[in-house]
Amino acid sequence: MELDPLSRLIIISNRVSAPSDSHSGAQGGLAVALSAALREYKGIWFGWSGETTEQFNGHINFQRSGGVTTATVDLEEQDVDEYYNGYANRTLWPLFHYRIDLAEYERDFAGGYSRVNDRFASTVRPLIEPDDAIWIQDYHMFPLGSALRERGCQNRIGFFLHIPWPPRRLLAVLPEAAELVSHLFAYDVVGFHTQEWLDSFCDYAIDEMGAVLDGDHLRLGDRSVQVMANPIGIDAKEFAEASRSPTARLAYRRMRDSAVGRDLIVGVDRLDYSKGLEERFLGYERFLQEHPEERKEVFLLQIAPPSRGAVGSYQKIRTTLEGLSGRINGAYADTDWVPIRYVNQGYPREQLAGIYRAAKIGLVTPLRDGMNLVAKEYVAAQDPEDPGVLILSRFAGAAAQLQVGALLINPYSAEEISDAIIAALKMPRHERIDRWRAMMDNVEAEDVVWWRKRFTDALIEERVAG
Ligand code: F6P
Repeated sequence: MELDPLSRLIIISNRVSAPSDSHSGAQGGLAVALSAALREYKGIWFGWSGETTEQFNGHINFQRSGGVTTATVDLEEQDVDEYYNGYANRTLWPLFHYRIDLAEYERDFAGGYSRVNDRFASTVRPLIEPDDAIWIQDYHMFPLGSALRERGCQNRIGFFLHIPWPPRRLLAVLPEAAELVSHLFAYDVVGFHTQEWLDSFCDYAIDEMGAVLDGDHLRLGDRSVQVMANPIGIDAKEFAEASRSPTARLAYRRMRDSAVGRDLIVGVDRLDYSKGLEERFLGYERFLQEHPEERKEVFLLQIAPPSRGAVGSYQKIRTTLEGLSGRINGAYADTDWVPIRYVNQGYPREQLAGIYRAAKIGLVTPLRDGMNLVAKEYVAAQDPEDPGVLILSRFAGAAAQLQVGALLINPYSAEEISDAIIAALKMPRHERIDRWRAMMDNVEAEDVVWWRKRFTDALIEERVAG
């Protein structure tokens, strides 16, 4: 293997998970991707411990497992309220998912967000050696690059956004929009999952701030940042193997047995309003209305582990979905059939892989999503001889790559969801195989290593050039 000129990689993200968690279900796709990158390089993964302490003290807890060193720090309760529950998840998350109706703007949130990023910067700064490359992840940490620069850090620093970037006129409602965008110019490389998110970012920087695009570099004043669209992938081989593991086989068998010959439609999402679960249930209800002959032939398994429960809009969507699933089940269920199995807990990856494989349809209908790795995992878990059909929102980042084989729908349209479900159920095997193959080729080629390498290569090249 070619030796990389990178001496160490420091990954910084809000959540940090040790690689030993990777098969326990505690890790999402992103976490799996990042621990794989860190195993390859000597490096550190720094972030919030998920714990609180009375008084912030910058004490770092180091742990080493599976070739990866994690370094985490506790935050104060007020930090968590203002930075994580506040600015990150009450302000930025809804706004960046096009939900200006849900976004809240409080100076305390903005203040807490910047204080916590300063705290992260001061804590991690002494760990950084001159040759390290630093890779900061996601919307919790937009200002961290600037905060590190203020502390004399001249290393190559990259930033990757895992959520959408909103159109210019939506972003304009954020009181700190210009400041937030200017923070991105502290980085050497900034990555987005799709060209659409990248274009929206450039639009704002160019139209509102006078930045200039020169090839793949965006210049503002004396700063120049390389911008790239770089869609994250999954470890396709590992996931396909996971779908054939004993745990997956057992999960598959149990699912098939409990389906008693009916077709399974599966959805797996964090319980988040951006995932379009309410619209999905309504689309499925429409299908039940329009196709009475299919009623007892299918069922929907919706797995939705609760998330960010301290935030009001998450409590509200949870209540809404409980009501809606109850109403639909009440209206259509029979003594021997329930149309929706609605489950509020998460499952280990291997078990999920078995469930995906047992499902005739993967229903992935976010209203807006940076990427959506469930769509890719669903594809990777299929039986090549008899694959299921992916129904995918055209507003998920993953649609740019998976439109080659998925049935693309508008998640706001119950009719489109209903039509796609019936089309998928009736789709002949040869068409399912052709569509699946086209998607699988992409999932295999543009996998997580491809994603990671494209980004770190750009970061290194910037260093060589810089
Ligand atoms: O992909 C977006 C993201 O916010 C990740 O940064 C995060 O790890 C994941 O969703 C889960 O969210 P949370 O960490 O708030 O539970």
